[in-house]
Amino acid sequence: MSEPWIAIDDYKPGRGWMEPNQRARACCLALERGQILFFRELPFNLPVEDREFLLSQPWTELRLHKNVSYRPDEDALRGVSGDKATVDRLHSILRNYTTQVIDFATKSLAPYAGKWTLDFSSFRPLEEERRGLPLHKRNDLLHVDAFPSRPTRGGRILRVFTNLNPAKPRVWNVMQDFETLARYYAKDAGLDKFADESVITRTFQDWGGKLGFRGMGRTPYDMFMLRFHDYLKENAEFQANCPKVRLEFPPLATWMVYTDGVAHAAMSGQYALEQTFLIPTNALVARDQAPYRILEKIAGRPLVS
Ligand SMILES: [Fe+2]
Repeated sequence: MSEPWIAIDDYKPGRGWMEPNQRARACCLALERGQILFFRELPFNLPVEDREFLLSQPWTELRLHKNVSYRPDEDALRGVSGDKATVDRLHSILRNYTTQVIDFATKSLAPYAGKWTLDFSSFRPLEEERRGLPLHKRNDLLHVDAFPSRPTRGGRILRVFTNLNPAKPRVWNVMQDFETLARYYAKDAGLDKFADESVITRTFQDWGGKLGFRGMGRTPYDMFMLRFHDYLKENAEFQANCPKVRLEFPPLATWMVYTDGVAHAAMSGQYALEQTFLIPTNALVARDQAPYRILEKIAGRPLVS
């Protein structure tokens, strides 16, 4: 693989691309192929007072879950409790951040605009290095993302990150080539077993999804990806020996990446904002690059009904 990221310098907040049609599609394609789009300057509006508020809270003392998260569909803030004024301010900062990122993604990745399902956003105020989380929740082990409660049925997980730390980079390790990763490890992680899922199980899952049960509506692809996430974190040989690249995202940089295809580990860094979009298969510009298609090729069977 060539450059670990593609530095974007022809997109400006408010105005968008200089050549909108070509650039938006080319960027979707690059993302779907496992590239990371890198913006050295903030590509959307985030008031300096909001940034300072996020940086100035006593996060280690607040009753904080893993992160502070915001669910745009319910306009709900989760993961933090404290005095009402602080929580209300956090809520409005994250609500505004989400609005800004939607506008940014609508302009910068126009082929996806309006077709996505808007997922959660989060603020990650704790230092990633030596967080002491349980193995499957550790962020510093390489993994691909999969969400137990939000199956994508082959759709993709696009994430936009911003490093709000004014002084320190956010450091990631990545392995970008999903096809190589899958060819080495998918069978060992049980791909064939998931591909063999019986018709009865699939029908049951489909009905569960239609009736709105949490985590239902999972395809064999969704179930495999949940397993693959855990398998990769459990696999010490993979963690130690896989070809990985170290990336340092400087203060106030923003980056976009498909975290279901690019294996990633956050090695250090504190104060990141993140918004997730779920991109359905029919919005992808290069469906053959999608993990479900690569896995179907390896399994020789369909994984998404
Ligand atoms: Fe992740």
